[in-house]
Amino acid sequence: MSLGALVERHAQLEKRGVGFYRGLATRFASHATAARLWREMSNTEASHFALLELAQDWIAMAGGASSAPTDALDAVAARMSEIEAAAEAVDTTLEAAVALTADWEEIELPRILELVPHLPGKAQGLVLAGMVAESPEHYRILAELAKATDVPAVVERAAALAERARTALG
Ligand SMILES: [Fe+2]
Ligand SMILES: [Fe+2]
Repeated sequence: MSLGALVERHAQLEKRGVGFYRGLATRFASHATAARLWREMSNTEASHFALLELAQDWIAMAGGASSAPTDALDAVAARMSEIEAAAEAVDTTLEAAVALTADWEEIELPRILELVPHLPGKAQGLVLAGMVAESPEHYRILAELAKATDVPAVVERAAALAERARTALG
């Protein structure tokens, strides 16, 4: 798969995140704070989608002929389907949905960190700045969601994600 096509696959996974969080905001609309925070998370996923679309232009300008492995992405997409199905199950509680949000983010960060080294300079800088350096704010929203819904384990998982992103930036 060409690098441009690989980044487009990542962009489509970000778009799935937009729908995933929007769906949770709608489903748990009766919890106004949680719904607002899920909408914020959805907006961040929309910005990730836009950024990866932009990165493709830069890859094309850089000549973007090199190829990149895609095997890991098939497993990621399958895991995302499982999380989506669990979130859509009729008996999923608010607390379980918050834990599924952490599950989603815990597969997103390694996916992006795995992509970064394959990107040419300018696109790499764009993704590092727009997705990795910005991610502690995304995880702060996740921690806020966990506090608002009383799921302390997810507060810790959000902190671990933020730490991992900071470490990756060096
Ligand atoms: Fe994302
Ligand atoms: Fe995310």
